[in-house]
Amino acid sequence: MLDTTALNQQRNFFEGHADIWLFGYGSLIWKADFAYLERRPAFITGWARRFWQGSHDHRGTPDAPGRVATLIRAQGAVCHGMAYRITSDVLAPLDVREKNGYLREKVPLTFLNENGGTAGQSEGLIYLASEDNPAFLGEAPLADMARQINQAHGPSGPNREYLLNLASALRELGVDDAHIFALEQQLDRLPGYQ
Ligand code: SIN
Repeated sequence: MLDTTALNQQRNFFEGHADIWLFGYGSLIWKADFAYLERRPAFITGWARRFWQGSHDHRGTPDAPGRVATLIRAQGAVCHGMAYRITSDVLAPLDVREKNGYLREKVPLTFLNENGGTAGQSEGLIYLASEDNPAFLGEAPLADMARQINQAHGPSGPNREYLLNLASALRELGVDDAHIFALEQQLDRLPGYQ
């Protein structure tokens, strides 16, 4: 199976930095099972969140992959998420978690304050599954993606849970993400996963 761990260990964009801002836009928003010093709502621009990445290791299997979030380039788009200030030792387990096609990339982040106003910028790290990675599934009709998500299960649990947790985390952050909420609505119309 695909494994980007070794590649990511060469991608040391923040070598020598005491801490690093990691920007999460998918499960890293709602499943922060790693140590962090601080976290702040933030956004990145020029990227849109899409359920176009296959999950063969967490929310699906090699034979029946699930669908999880990645980012695609989209001029003028704003992608909201959560930024975590971490120390560099946290990256090794994250590389393993994100090994199915995600690569470390450096992007500019903008932080938000409690009132939703902007509160400074920093360079940050994202895990990006670009369309040339072998686990990339790409676009499909919304209803088909919802059906796939409804059926897929993997070692980390039902794929459905990933989408529903992400949708509620975004709602909690006050973020309107049309793609995610439309998928959630499609999922609501389907019977519960078996
Ligand atoms: C992220 O959450 O930022 C990356 C994709 C994922 O782990 O769901």
